[in-house]
Amino acid sequence: MAQPDLSKLVSLAKRRGFVFPSSEIYGGIGSSWDYGPLGVELKRNVKEAWWRAMVYERDDVVGLDSAIIQNPQVWVASGHAENFTDPLVECPECRKRFRPDHLDDPTKCPDDSTTLSAPRMFNLMFKTFVGPVEDSANQVWLRPETAQGIFINFDNVLTAMRHKLPFGIAQIGKSFRNEITPGNFIFRTREFEQMEMEFFVKPGEDDYWHRHWIEQRFNWYRDLGIREENLRLRDHDPDELAHYAKATADVEYNFPWGWGELEGIANRTDFDLSQHEAVSGKTMKYFDQEANEHYFPYVIEPAAGADRAALTFMFDAYDEEMAPTGDGKEEVRTVLRFHPDIAPAQVAVLPLSRNAKLTPTARDVHAQVRHVFRSQYDDAQSIGRRYRRQDEIGTPLCVTVDFQTVEEDQAVTIRNRDSMQQHRVPIADLADALRSALRDMGSTRV
Ligand code: GAP
Repeated sequence: MAQPDLSKLVSLAKRRGFVFPSSEIYGGIGSSWDYGPLGVELKRNVKEAWWRAMVYERDDVVGLDSAIIQNPQVWVASGHAENFTDPLVECPECRKRFRPDHLDDPTKCPDDSTTLSAPRMFNLMFKTFVGPVEDSANQVWLRPETAQGIFINFDNVLTAMRHKLPFGIAQIGKSFRNEITPGNFIFRTREFEQMEMEFFVKPGEDDYWHRHWIEQRFNWYRDLGIREENLRLRDHDPDELAHYAKATADVEYNFPWGWGELEGIANRTDFDLSQHEAVSGKTMKYFDQEANEHYFPYVIEPAAGADRAALTFMFDAYDEEMAPTGDGKEEVRTVLRFHPDIAPAQVAVLPLSRNAKLTPTARDVHAQVRHVFRSQYDDAQSIGRRYRRQDEIGTPLCVTVDFQTVEEDQAVTIRNRDSMQQHRVPIADLADALRSALRDMGSTRV
């Protein structure tokens, strides 16, 4: 399968309604993107698949949705106020700013080769103010990770849910970082969605659970169709570990620009809970009834990005192949071979043409299908063009209503996106036939 270059994917994403440049009518704003009708479905499916794997399919994880704006002391305790920095260098000529570790030669401006300034540390948190007075007493930060919302609610969740260790708290939500060099489309942006889970364990059991979660998280991408040869695990070197981590392994994907992080699985030790206890003065310890002792649990954190995952699913699904046009010729067929649980639509219902004889039955079929599956109805343009469009947006199955359906057999054709094979089924059996075809393509959700 051919991986597209970035510009091809960006163009498909815009043309087909996955992702648009934000504020485009005003000339855009660096590295902000809006999800269109198909992109929003794709990202919802990514988040839904994550929530299902992390919360619904486990007995030991619950969910949370905490605030984006928190008491600034949270970020003092977590170390972000002091340590959440990246090195920044500036070109004295063109005034552009760069992260030296993102440059081939960290001493020279990549645009005009001027010698760059010495690196200084730049805090990535966005500052804003609560209320009408813009002074330091009212200054707050937008959260740069969802994790701290979980730590500060550790005791609330424990008291409400009466869980015993080990247990986890999962959260999906927006985070904000004033990245010095955002880029590569939705890979690195200043506003993005994270999918994070903090798993609290007994100290001493942390290495076991760290390995467990590294394996689980790698398998999640693989089981949703990302090709294993494009995935790898990479341990952080000691000098790249975050200020809170004892060990971290990243799940990485082989993007056209090289291997890039999809997710970090960190052993955060008892850093965050002990910091919050020290700064807030409130107890953050766990009472272990069996051992009859209070202690800080250790924390294993799988932290993923919903936008990066959506981008990865698009890259990995992209394929081009030569396909017959129907008149004896061939043309390039672009297909997004999404896993059926990730594809924006699972089924498209297509009348052979926009014809008064076909429309009522086709609408009827769609009404049945949409109850059970994520589906689209499309009757514009020729059937060949509509198949191509559905291939390009990654719809696994098309259901075609033709004249034989209404005049003879009350049966429809199901076309498979990948094989382009078609088979006919009675409308009465359609839901079962679609379910079985989607399962054959890997769905575990129908
Ligand atoms: N709580 C730990 C934490 O936030 P991280 O490695 O900084 O760890 C976790 O972030 C994940 O969030 C990353 O692996 C990535 O998928 C996503 N992420 C981080 N910064 C991002 C950005 N600027 N744009 C898009 N996604 C980002």
